[in-house]
Amino acid sequence: MSKFRIGLGVTGGIAAYKAIEVMRLLQKAGCEVSVAMTRHATEFIKPLTFRALTDQYVIVDDYDPANPDPIAHINFSQNIDLLLIVPATANIIAKFANGVADDFLTSTYLASTARVMIAPAMNTTMWEQPATQRNIALLKADGVRFVEPVAGELACKTVGTGKLEDVENIVSQALSLLETTDNRQQTGDRRQETRDKNQGTSPSESPVSSLLSHDSDLLGEHILITVGGTREAIDPVRFISNHSSGKMGFAVAEAAAARGADVTVVSGVTSVEPPENVKVVRGISAKEMHEAVMKELPNATVFIGSAAVADYRPANAPAEKIKKDGKETMSLELVKTPDILADVSKNRTNGLLVIGFAAETSDVIEYARSKMEKKGLDMVVANDITKDGAGFNTDTNVATIITKNGSETDLPKMPKREMADRILDEIIRLRKE
Ligand code: PMT
Repeated sequence: MSKFRIGLGVTGGIAAYKAIEVMRLLQKAGCEVSVAMTRHATEFIKPLTFRALTDQYVIVDDYDPANPDPIAHINFSQNIDLLLIVPATANIIAKFANGVADDFLTSTYLASTARVMIAPAMNTTMWEQPATQRNIALLKADGVRFVEPVAGELACKTVGTGKLEDVENIVSQALSLLETTDNRQQTGDRRQETRDKNQGTSPSESPVSSLLSHDSDLLGEHILITVGGTREAIDPVRFISNHSSGKMGFAVAEAAAARGADVTVVSGVTSVEPPENVKVVRGISAKEMHEAVMKELPNATVFIGSAAVADYRPANAPAEKIKKDGKETMSLELVKTPDILADVSKNRTNGLLVIGFAAETSDVIEYARSKMEKKGLDMVVANDITKDGAGFNTDTNVATIITKNGSETDLPKMPKREMADRILDEIIRLRKE
């Protein structure tokens, strides 16, 4: 039996040819792939290519006399675990968001209860249009997952965000969504998940209405967050790390996504699951986290360093386990790791807001202020980790938000998720200044 059944929707963009690679990688991973194309997609790539590689009829038009199934959009949509759209145009996103069903793929979307993942690719201006971003926010509120496009040179010879994410990354995010759904033994019904999310809320408080009112105040922001602790190898068996659980950083990621931001998390070691609707990239050591951040940075409008990053790593980590050999003491030579936050700040482009955290045990405000100045930050969230309910691996936190213009806001003990919203409120205030 195949691992998962994927309905691959291909729409009309220059990146349509990359859907072939996505299909091949999914097949390699043991998935059964059925393909549906829009009429415009067939201008870029022929249905025959997919037919030859899947051994299945590729539906473009339900009404085509050659179509072997008279109710194809129902049968196709009921027999998949995931509807994956690669590449997705602004047009298909708009149609899905507004319930338009004027061809096979859009009818399939409406007729399906499967999870949906969309990998957009388009010109930067089309991507940044408020209409496109509004449609994306609506779909996110409906439980649709996005694999955000990346920055790069586009087919129209401009440079900007809108390039299809690497196919390997699309496939790995699709598989991890299906595996998480499977592990949680959910039905995989995205509408049920949306209903669950809405339970107990009146229609005026539904995610859609809130996205269109005050809760969409981060629409258009691309927030990049480091989360968790790093792990620095001593040898293949041992490492240096810290107590960060990821709770604070993931809370900020979840709150930002709920307020309409596109969120990318670069995650070190964490003991909690990342929230839905955020892109997660792994960076376990300080060096790996630094590399991942620098790769994602061109897309970001706000950077938040909530991770507890090791300041030093062992100078040499041998490939073989270090033997005790009767030694009573052992010395490790440590060398400095790259300072991610300082490098982001140094490489900032116009408009990027750079926010740091500081976990301190004494002279909290002074140390936090000095970090803000040394690293050129717009804001720092200072945790006094000696306080009850503050700091590492707790569900609550106590903090002071300090901004570059001298304001200080004390946040008493509160759940990390609530604090996340208070931090985002301050970021919005800074953005308006
Ligand atoms: O994950 P939790 O269990 O919920 O805990 C949350 C937290 C306590 C880890 C978090 O709220 C926090 O305070 N994170 C910062 C931890 C810290 O002490 O950072 P620092 O003082 O070493 O570094 C200051 C800032 O520089 C931080 O934003 C850090 O991410 C950044 N940094 C530090 C070193 C380095 N090499 N690169 C960095 O980017």
